[in-house]
Amino acid sequence: MDIKSIGVIGAGQMGAGIAQAGAQAGLNVLLVDVKEEILLRAFKGIEKSLAKLAEKGKVQNPQGILQKVRTSNRTGDLASCDFVIEAATENEPLKFGVFEELDRICRPEVCLASNTSSISITRIAGKTKRPDRVIGMHFMNPVPMMELVEIIRGLQTSDETYRLTKALAEKMGKVTVLSKDSAGFIVNRILVPMINEAICALYQGIGTAEEIDTAMKLGAHQPMGPLALADLVGLDTVLSVLEVFHASFGDKFKPCPLLKQYVDAGWMGRKTGRGFYKYS
Ligand code: CAA
Ligand code: NAD
Repeated sequence: MDIKSIGVIGAGQMGAGIAQAGAQAGLNVLLVDVKEEILLRAFKGIEKSLAKLAEKGKVQNPQGILQKVRTSNRTGDLASCDFVIEAATENEPLKFGVFEELDRICRPEVCLASNTSSISITRIAGKTKRPDRVIGMHFMNPVPMMELVEIIRGLQTSDETYRLTKALAEKMGKVTVLSKDSAGFIVNRILVPMINEAICALYQGIGTAEEIDTAMKLGAHQPMGPLALADLVGLDTVLSVLEVFHASFGDKFKPCPLLKQYVDAGWMGRKTGRGFYKYS
């Protein structure tokens, strides 16, 4: 199938980034979320990001690219799309509900991809009548800057769905790796326990947040420290991933109590203005 339009459901930081990458690849994009204000924020974020990339000569005609993105707060509007990528909140029952709905709405030949950070693609696919057309398409944050997409085949994902998804990711300018359907796939299986360990180091007073991040930036050449990265990802998402790991792999992946406290306090990182650091 020739993919001319994609739908993206969930217009948070990932959904907005995926929509932008799709539009930059020349696709018509429909971005869906539950509230108009979220869609407006996402649209403005895409506009700002495109302006920055245009300033650096990395994209041409940012206004033309922006015009390829439409928004809607009605999931039913996704019926017209050739391929749908789900980027809603990292919560298993919520994603199950979204996939049940997408399965009812979308044409039978349309593939449904999830950008989940940790949840089993086989389980998500099991909620639909098209498990052969369900796949994991895991973009990295921030999407416009990061080259990788992990592709995850569920037990029933067909070769054709994999081929289409890989070609789509490449059209969006990304390099792909294939991962087995194991909690957290490749990147998060390795990255998120490191972030949890950094939070434990802070909890145990081994260093301040600044000292821990500086140590890992200058001592391990990480582009940003693990606590700043946790703030970028969203502490709610980091906690959800660790909870999936804990359930799948046992106590080795137990979330640090400090992380739970921060999420309970509503300190989710950059998106709420406070996490391990404060943001204006
Ligand atoms: N759109 C356009 N430009 C952007 C941007 C965006 N979304 N985000 C950042 N930039 C720009 C910045 O504005 C900046 O531009 P200037 O040079 O003109 O100021 C430029 O990129 C470089 O940014 P910064 O100077 O702020 O900092 P940086 O050089 O450290 O780069 C970064 C930013 C690319 C985010 C880099 O710090 C980095 O690679 N960090 C690690 C990110 C990472 O590990 N991501 C994976 C997270 S895990 C995941 O995604 C999976 C999951 O399921 C949780
Ligand atoms: P976010 O909190 O920024 O955004 C989630 C969005 O989903 C919100 O705008 C919310 O309103 C929307 N949403 C929730 N239920 C919905 C529904 N039923 N219909 C439509 N929209 C709905 O989260 P995010 O960081 O963008 O993460 C989204 C997904 O991408 C998660 O599965 C996450 O694990 C994954 N992911 C996140 C990162 C990251 O660094 N944050 C990286 C890779 C993958």
